[in-house]
Amino acid sequence: MSENEKSNSGRRKFLQDGAAVGGMAALSGLVPAVAFAQGPSKIKIGLMLPFTGTFGQIGLGISNAFKLAIQENGGKIAGRELEYATVDDESDPAKGADNANRLVSRDKVDVLVGTVHSGVQMGIQKIARESGVLTIIPNAGVAAATTTLCAPNVFRTSFANGQTTYPMGPIVAKKGHKNVVTLSWRYAAGEEMIAGFKDSYTKAGGKILRELWLPFPNVEFQALLTEIASLKPDAVFVFFAGGGAAKFLRDYQAAGLKDKIPLYGSGFLTDGVLEAVGNAAEGIETTLHYGDGIETPKNKAFRLAFAKNYKMQPDVYSMQGYDAGLLLIAGLNAVKGDITKKKEIISAMEKAQIDSPRGKWHMSAGHNPVQDFYLRKVVGHENKVIGVAMKALDYPPASLCKMAR
Ligand code: PHB
Repeated sequence: MSENEKSNSGRRKFLQDGAAVGGMAALSGLVPAVAFAQGPSKIKIGLMLPFTGTFGQIGLGISNAFKLAIQENGGKIAGRELEYATVDDESDPAKGADNANRLVSRDKVDVLVGTVHSGVQMGIQKIARESGVLTIIPNAGVAAATTTLCAPNVFRTSFANGQTTYPMGPIVAKKGHKNVVTLSWRYAAGEEMIAGFKDSYTKAGGKILRELWLPFPNVEFQALLTEIASLKPDAVFVFFAGGGAAKFLRDYQAAGLKDKIPLYGSGFLTDGVLEAVGNAAEGIETTLHYGDGIETPKNKAFRLAFAKNYKMQPDVYSMQGYDAGLLLIAGLNAVKGDITKKKEIISAMEKAQIDSPRGKWHMSAGHNPVQDFYLRKVVGHENKVIGVAMKALDYPPASLCKMAR
């Protein structure tokens, strides 16, 4: 994203990079000779992501990494170039369906890639189901997208919300923490994240002392931290992400709780924020389907290329965006770039074994990754992998998806 795009942030914007430039050139009569060259038309990608607000950096990382995967594929898929229509969805669920509909109906994108926020995703899901447009979810974990409201044309390269927190329950119980206070933003993602942890923690004998909530994207944590201090639980389990996670980590430390009450969460708490929080996250353990130091050639190459190209550190979100690119390449290669062969594309994407920076994974029957979850610990500026918490986890189970074809 250019500086200009960033400074335009906050307003809804549709940027049809290639199309806009070509159109202007044609109107002014300055059509470059290359425009007449015969060749396959471009594949049009709608990128619907947050570029502003608490998830702004997350959207930028996903967009950059998706483009990196295409760049590493020679800038094309099956000989066809890509053009992008980009929209800042502002993590605003009220505008979710309208924004998605505009990309599909007005901009006529071939593929919709989005988004980060589970509430906004529900708007995309509605349009994806109605229009049948090929859709790749590069983050939002709302369970319904790959269970009760699953669809043949919708694939996820990230996780289901509860899938990331379910592995942490037995670990927290095993550490001898008999009771826990949970805290999160109250919206679909937060509710499902807390429910996943609660499910496995209570099965392992733990007790939830109190569930605390605040509205998304509120970051006024003070009253809640005071309440936690007076409840004196054995441990605290939270879901926050992006800018909100960074603020929470700093506030938890400033309130004097960091050394008194151990803090746990899904890895979103500490991913993409370590540069911004000093030592406020040091030692915190989380579970996630990624870790910075995964010692594979694939991960090392991805991290190097991403940091070099975009001058920002890779994290779980950019990894998921990169995999969205890899998945699309797998689907379109199978039909030699013929986007009209929807059934064959879907079938290839269902069968794809993605060789990802996180490790190899495949799609569940509901089109959600079946993948390993790592136990990680913050050491310096790294989410260091210290073990595998659960292997090949399918949660909530894909059997909840009844795919109408
Ligand atoms: C979501 O809203 O689904 C969501 C957002 C940010 C995360 C994880 C899940 O880090």
